Amino acid sequence: MSHSEQQTGESVTIQTDQGLYVNPQALTAHLPALDYHDGALYMEQVSIADVVKHYGTPCYVYSKQAILDVYQAYSDSFASLTHQICYAVKANSNLAVLGILAQAGAGFDIVSRGELMRVLAAGGEAARVVFSGVGKTYSDIEYALTQGIGCFNVESISELTLINDVAQKLDKPAPISLRVNPNVDAKTHPYISTGLKDNKFGITHEDAVAVYEQAAQLSHIDIVGIDCHIGSQLTEVAPFVAALDKVVELIHNLRDKGIELRHIDLGGGLGVRYIDETPVSIDEFAQALLPKLSELGLTVFFEPGRSIVANAGILLTKVDVLKPTEHKNFAIVDAAMNDLIRPALYQAEMAVIPSVLPENGIGTDGTQPWDIVGAICETGDFLAKDRLLSLAVGDVLAITGAGAYGFTMSSNYNSRPRASEVMVADDSHQLIRKRETIEALYADEVLWQGK
Ligand code: LLP
Repeated sequence: MSHSEQQTGESVTIQTDQGLYVNPQALTAHLPALDYHDGALYMEQVSIADVVKHYGTPCYVYSKQAILDVYQAYSDSFASLTHQICYAVKANSNLAVLGILAQAGAGFDIVSRGELMRVLAAGGEAARVVFSGVGKTYSDIEYALTQGIGCFNVESISELTLINDVAQKLDKPAPISLRVNPNVDAKTHPYISTGLKDNKFGITHEDAVAVYEQAAQLSHIDIVGIDCHIGSQLTEVAPFVAALDKVVELIHNLRDKGIELRHIDLGGGLGVRYIDETPVSIDEFAQALLPKLSELGLTVFFEPGRSIVANAGILLTKVDVLKPTEHKNFAIVDAAMNDLIRPALYQAEMAVIPSVLPENGIGTDGTQPWDIVGAICETGDFLAKDRLLSLAVGDVLAITGAGAYGFTMSSNYNSRPRASEVMVADDSHQLIRKRETIEALYADEVLWQGK
């Protein structure tokens, strides 16, 4: 069967009493960077077996083309407006990823001095960077202003006055937006919902005009925009529209008070398909927002993170131990919650597919239900549960959708070095972060010298 034949009408998942079967070929049909050739997994034209041979496992692998294609889709969908796509660095902050996006003309959304330094090191322009986050410090602000940051997305009055103080000291006006909390339910996991009044983010919709008026009185504040970000992994367009409506109302109120803005920033949050979710497409998202946005006559900013990189990346991991028990089968792999915490932290369901298809073909035949777990000493250390797979020790598995919030959320828990990262483009591959050494994990530690 050719790949295209397999795409037609094949369902991605089969749920049985024993567990969930994710059909690898039907899944990859939705993932432009991945494909099977003669039963072996490829990213672009690079064989995953080759990647493993060169760089070992666990290893994150990203497709340059997949990153650029989504960036371009945003750009094309909003082509009728002056716009700036500020990629949210927290999703994947590898310098190679940032450099590829900077070259494509992207701006960036950052939340720390560290992220700004990464953007600059990767060739990004400070003037195309927006600085988000609830807890900016004096030195963060000083550094960002000195570098010529494009805009601070301000989340409180106390931050506003701090920015004014720093700007006064540097004698350099600070460009700002207020991040408005529109109190809209993003209908996503509670840990990644940010636009409800109970969340720590932003200035309430009700207070926004008064805070803008206060900002207008400050000597070194240059009001340039308005901002809102309501959450992440949103699959519907309605919450975005509801948030936009609230922001538009504020823009009109501000105009009435003589406060003119240059841009509106709608944040990030567009969801992706991990297994069989059906998120709104970038084009549908644009179609829903464009009519309201074009009336404003403002430059439009977006801060997408996940949607640009999630499906451009996979995490490769090798099966080290198979441990069937009376109640459960455990496949212990060489990646763990320290490498990919999304399943443990958000109960995220991510697809696990083999790098070589089983000989007996596809379907649930010959499969067993497995919990794919790491070697960390915690029951919460799992990457997937009850997945129907046909496994042998030494098999390499790919966890898809791992390009966003994968490596960036990884840690050294249990003194585990962080994984290597590799970029592929066409038929070439390159190491973009070498695997950490164990010595590096304690190189900055010092033995106690006292009594
Ligand atoms: N802008 C701001 C102000 C944000 O806080 C975020 C994400 C973004 C943009 C990008 O959102 P995206 O387009 O990626 O949804 N670790 C979680 C996601 C946390 C998102 C935090 N903020 C996860 O793995 O699902």
